[in-house]
Amino acid sequence: MKFAVIGGTGLIGSQVVKDLRAAGHEAVPYAKSTGVDIITGQGVDEAVAGADVVVNLTNSPTFDEASPAFFRTSMENLLAAARKGGVGHFVILSIVGVDQVPELDYYRAKVLQEELLQAGQIPYSIVRATQFMEFMDAAMSWTADADTVRLPATPIQPIAAKDVAAAVAEVAAGTPLNGIRNIGGPDVFGLDELGRITLSHKGDKRTVVTDPTAGMFAAVKGDVLTDKNAHLAPTHYTDWLS
Ligand SMILES: NC(=O)c1ccc[n+]([C@@H]2O[C@H](COP(=O)([O-])OP(=O)(O)OC[C@H]3O[C@@H](n4cnc5c(N)ncnc54)[C@H](OP(=O)(O)O)[C@@H]3O)[C@@H](O)[C@H]2O)c1
Repeated sequence: MKFAVIGGTGLIGSQVVKDLRAAGHEAVPYAKSTGVDIITGQGVDEAVAGADVVVNLTNSPTFDEASPAFFRTSMENLLAAARKGGVGHFVILSIVGVDQVPELDYYRAKVLQEELLQAGQIPYSIVRATQFMEFMDAAMSWTADADTVRLPATPIQPIAAKDVAAAVAEVAAGTPLNGIRNIGGPDVFGLDELGRITLSHKGDKRTVVTDPTAGMFAAVKGDVLTDKNAHLAPTHYTDWLS
């Protein structure tokens, strides 16, 4: 089968391309840096034409109020090209619990992306993943100073990017779900606890202060970002750190 992997140079996209090729498929990465711009539409029809499956693993350059426009315009351009090209399966990567945190612009933007796909008249699959292990450094940097990192105790179920990529590649090569599959890491931690484990592993002497108002995850109520019934990935956070 032929796969057009949009965002195929990114953290997840580049590994999905490798996994699909290793499974014997033809997988072509497309991204802004390869001359395909999903916002202006440049090169999109050509990228999608002839693909059996489109896997959209792009990301918005910002997580703020500009993100809904990014996901709306990019999905409208990609879906129009996919309909024209007769694509049989369109896959996106979203976030577990994404519809439970309407306070966050970025999460509303990802819900919009899902809704556009569901209304897009193309057989589809939505893979919702929990937070990537690779994302932890960024999450800590938002609320860090020289001595402390402030983090809420929000329950998080971190998953390794390589496990996300494997799950996306498997779904993309299968029959369209016309629905949602949740995937998550094998363990749940409070984000503050995850911060302490991370700093200790790195020999970083800063202290994690539990602060229910700190950072983007302060807006999350309860354990909506976790799902113990998700398809559980094999890699544990402490093994990944090592
Ligand atoms: N972070 C998390 O914990 C988490 C959890 C669940 C789901 N997700 C989702 O996972 C998806 C992939 O994330 P990621 O971290 O792998 O992303 P990433 O590493 O930031 O890669 C983003 C990709 O999008 C491409 N791109 C951006 N703007 C573009 C444009 N205008 N035209 C064409 N390509 C463009 C980039 O191309 P260039 O290389 O050319 O810039 C790059 O290939 C995102 O949709 C995100 O919402 C993330």
